[in-house]
Amino acid sequence: MTSLEGPNPSRIGAPVHIPVLPSEVLEHLAGDASLRASLTGWVVDGTVGAAGHAEALLRECPGLCVLGLDQDPEILAHARVRLAPFGERVRLRHARASQIDALLESEALPAPIGMLLDLGVSSLQLDSPERGFAFQVDGPLDMRMDPTAARTAADIINHWDEADLADLIYHEGGDTRARRIARVIVEARHRHPFLRTGALADLIARGVPSGGKTHPATKLFQALRRAVNEEGEELIAALTAAETRLADSARLVVISFHSGEDGVVKRFISRGARAGRWRALTKKPVSATRSEIRTNRRSRSALLRAAVRVRSPRDGGAAERGPQDQEVSS
Ligand SMILES: C[S@@+](CC[C@H](N)C(=O)[O-])C[C@H]1O[C@@H](n2cnc3c(N)ncnc32)[C@H](O)[C@@H]1O
Repeated sequence: MTSLEGPNPSRIGAPVHIPVLPSEVLEHLAGDASLRASLTGWVVDGTVGAAGHAEALLRECPGLCVLGLDQDPEILAHARVRLAPFGERVRLRHARASQIDALLESEALPAPIGMLLDLGVSSLQLDSPERGFAFQVDGPLDMRMDPTAARTAADIINHWDEADLADLIYHEGGDTRARRIARVIVEARHRHPFLRTGALADLIARGVPSGGKTHPATKLFQALRRAVNEEGEELIAALTAAETRLADSARLVVISFHSGEDGVVKRFISRGARAGRWRALTKKPVSATRSEIRTNRRSRSALLRAAVRVRSPRDGGAAERGPQDQEVSS
């Protein structure tokens, strides 16, 4: 956890990221409109981003406070500007979702009554070529959400052995051409290491064309981004913190953009439900309506799941209670 550093002032305040499933997030996190005015306590936004969801929550629920964290200090600067009107109801920290547990300890907050995880990248990151997330425009092969992190996508592409690269592309990108892709990368990097997104995307387009509508490097880029940012490990640590830290009847809302990630959330909730620690609010993941997809294309792959923390005395039942344990349709 570090203090805010290095924002790009020219971008602060500009509209950058349209939050996905905005009304569904509010409904699952704060219950229906009649309940919201009476809610009090802290909600953790573990991926606060440009703070679209956090702002809506603070506006709709005047008794709520938000602890927001993001591993990208530039994006956190947007959140700071956007949430400034809410004053002391907001604390923003440059931290990773895996640090939620430690952060709640150091901030000495009461058990939160909700947690939101809106996973993946922000449009601001995707739309900044210099961050290296996109293959459509050339940029450095970086992909770190946290610029202070040690490992870049170039480190993985240029140094991992072929079998590990193939496993990564298959497991994290779901690309069945993983072995061929790994082979052409390893052959080409002997001639010159990859430092730019454009060179890597071109190699895949020429060497392992897919014939489909999507660019042949799409899944490779997704796999690299997930590995660079340790997205799988981060999610597990954040879910574990939710289970340990949330108050009785608190709500957990997770939005994934990847079927593997949604599977992790689904299994976490169903295992917890069987053990009497969670009650699922969504049987199937909630996805965006056609009209939302028309205005925000990014929402087309969003999958929302939600659950209520159920604490029994056996489970170390926390004294605080979260939003009323009210069913939400799915
Ligand atoms: C999809 S955006 C969140 C958008 C936000 N809900 C909004 O309304 O603007 C995801 C954000 O989470 C951050 N992020 C992703 N993984 C993270 C992690 N493990 N820890 C902290 N921040 C993370 C990214 O830097 C990005 O800003």
